[in-house]
Formats: sequence, C-alpha cells, structure tokens
Amino acid sequence: MNYFESEYFKYKGYQLFCENVPLIEIADQQSTPTYVYSNKFFIDRYKEFDKAFAGLDHQIFFACKSNFNLSVIKTFVDAGSGVDVNSEGELFRALKAGASPKKIIMSGVGKTKNEIKLALENDLLMIKAESEEEILLINEIAGSLNTKARVAIRVNPDVDAKTHPYISTGLAKNKFGVDAATALRLFKLKKDLKNIKYTGIDMHIGSQITKVEPFVEAIEKLGELFQKVKSEGISLEHIDLGGGIGVAYNNEKTFSAEEFSNAVSPILKKLNCKVFFEPGRFLTANGGVLIAQVLYTKKNHDKNFIITDGAMNDLLRPSIYGAYHHIQPLTLTKDKKDITADVVGPVCESGDFLAKNVQITECKRGEFIAVLSAGAYGMVMSSNYNMRRRPAEVLVSGNNFKVVRRRESFESLLKDEIDLL
Ligand code: LLP
Repeated sequence: MNYFESEYFKYKGYQLFCENVPLIEIADQQSTPTYVYSNKFFIDRYKEFDKAFAGLDHQIFFACKSNFNLSVIKTFVDAGSGVDVNSEGELFRALKAGASPKKIIMSGVGKTKNEIKLALENDLLMIKAESEEEILLINEIAGSLNTKARVAIRVNPDVDAKTHPYISTGLAKNKFGVDAATALRLFKLKKDLKNIKYTGIDMHIGSQITKVEPFVEAIEKLGELFQKVKSEGISLEHIDLGGGIGVAYNNEKTFSAEEFSNAVSPILKKLNCKVFFEPGRFLTANGGVLIAQVLYTKKNHDKNFIITDGAMNDLLRPSIYGAYHHIQPLTLTKDKKDITADVVGPVCESGDFLAKNVQITECKRGEFIAVLSAGAYGMVMSSNYNMRRRPAEVLVSGNNFKVVRRRESFESLLKDEIDLL
C-alpha cells in the first residue's frame, strides 16, 4: 500500500506522528475513535493563502462549518482570520472563540428571523442575502432595531464547478443565491430599503473544486454585474468569492493558493474593491486524522473486512459522498502483506464504511489505524447514531497535545431527556 506522509503527519521510525507527537500515545491516552489535528498545519495553510493574495486588499473568513471546534476557530482568529458562519449555532461558537463581530459574516439560504436579529444585534460585518423575501425581512428587522443592515447579495452565477452533485452550489438548478438579473433588480430596490446598506456581491459555487477555471468563469460573471451595479450609482465595497478550493485526498491534482491567485487576481484587480474569501476545507482537511482501533478482522465469502471502532457516525463522508479517505496503520510492522479490504464500523448499516475495496496492510485485532484528511467535514458532521458517543478531539502543537473536546459521556447525551421521564 501507499503510505501518505506530509510535514505534519509522518512516520518516524515505525510510528506515525502528528508534528512531534506519536499518534499511538494519543490513542493510548484518549482511547479511540479520536480526531487529531495539527495546529501548525492550520496556521501554515492560513498564511499560505493570505500570502498568495497579498497583492489584493483582501480578508479571509474561515468557513467554520468545516471544523467548528472552539480551539480550531481560535487558532484561525488568532492568525488574523475572520469567520464565516452559517447558523446561529456557528455564530455562538465564533463569538465564544473570541472572533470580533466586525470580522464575522453570516451565510445561509434559510436564515431564521432570530438569526437575522442576532446578526444585527451583534453588528456583524455583513449578512449575505439569498432571496428578495430575505432582503425585505432584513430591512424590516433592521428598522425595528433602529439600525442599518450591511447586506451583500449572493449570486448564483450558473457555472459548473465539476464536483460532487451534493456539494455543487453554483448551478441554475441549485437552491443557492439569485441569478444576476434578479440581483441587479434587488440592488436597484435600494432607495426603498431604508434600513439596508448594500456592501457587496457574493458567490460560493461549490466545494472540493480542483480546477481554477470554474472560479475564473464565475468571477468574470460577477465582475460584469459589479460594474453594472456601479453604473447604477450603487457603490459596493467588496466581492466575496466564497470557499470551495479543493484538496488532495488521494492523488487528485489540485491547485495551490498561489496558482489560484495568479488565475483570479488580474480580474479582481480591475474591480478595485476588497476581496473576501471563505475557505473551509483548504484550511482544515489535511490538518486532521481520525484514529481508530481494529476490533476484528474477518473474511466473508472471500471478502476481507477490517472492523474498527470508528464508524459512519464519526466520519460520514465515505458513506454519503463515496468520498475517499486514505487509511494507514499508526504503527508499521515488518513482513506484512497487503490485502484488499473494506474498512467498516460497528454501526448497523451496510453503508457504514470508512473505505471500500482498498489496498491496505493486513492488520490485526487491537492495532490502530489513521483515517487521513479528516480535518474538514469530519467531526462537524458526526452524530450519535446507535447512541454512539462522538469522538474526542485533540489539537497537537509541536511536542504537546491538548484535548480540545472530551469524548461525550452517556449522561451528557441523556441530559435533555432524563428530567422529562
Ligand atoms: N462558504 C459557503 C457559503 C459555503 O456554503 C461553504 C461550504 C464554504 C464557504 C466553505 O467551502 P469549502 O472551502 O470548505 O469547500 N460536507 C461537504 C462539504 C459541504 C460544503 C458546504 N459549504 C463535504 O464533506 O465535502
């Protein structure tokens, strides 16, 4: 099998390390399944992105939906990032993690009245509106709070991001944003919307996009709209490109932050405005692994199964998107052969797998594995299905590691029910 290594997760001797900490030490101390993140990865990736766009007046807003652990959000906030939140709950987390409301933006195709109210009361940098009805509601709520809402309109540019259909968002058939003609009409409503100040145009065309072309195409469309809005006498401050930058899970060819910048900066420069980005996966995916222990191995009708204590409720991506996450042992052993196997969990569904038909070093009961690229859309999409406690989360920094979320207890999972019995 192939062993994947990076500066942040690599074998030293026989052991797989995260920075300077052997993962086996974390498995022993915290038990499994447990998410482990590299703090250095997060900071390096943030700096890489920030540096690539140094030539533009820009701001990064970490899309905390990809990993909303308070300590992870705080790492980005401390590095200078703003935060993109998609719900009241994410706003609650971003504020708890110490993000300044002036650097928080709120997304969401279906914001509730309360979410809009909270965004205004907390004086967030801006709300991204996705429909006429939402804009009218924001205007009304801002009026009742005696404030002026800073609003951007999310445009659906109708471009094909060429990614998994579930995470493609910029096509005409997707529920997100409004078309450019509608956006222009909504911008022109400005004079009737006394409690709204329009600040920009936004997009987010999808996730795990591995080519720059869809971005270029969409940005060109947004640029045209930006100029049209301007020629109507409405001045906007920013253009927001959303997130979506893809990463390598296996051996996909992706693009670097610098390549991204080289492709899009010339178009953006002409607009002469601030540029916002909302990367999630790019900043977190390859900074995390899920470690799990092999409970049993078996052969069933000639098919090999490795049954681990990590399951679909811990990492859902393989089950719902057929996503590939490379799996390798925490400890290398000599003279072991490779087998083809499904790596599965204890959940009562055939859809419960972490990998299907993969080449993997034969492993035995009690050994540990690492599921790679699990720093984005891992823990945040976990559940308590089968009344399984969600994993602990550990943040490694150099020689040290810190538990940044304890494994849940059964008591805590029952606390909202027990009094009602
Ligand atoms: N901004 C908005 C408005 C978004 O909806 C998203 C992601 C992002 C930014 C960040 O996108 P990223 O840079 O992470 O691609 N659960 C799926 C991914 C769903 C992405 C949803 N929106 C997965 O596991 O692949």
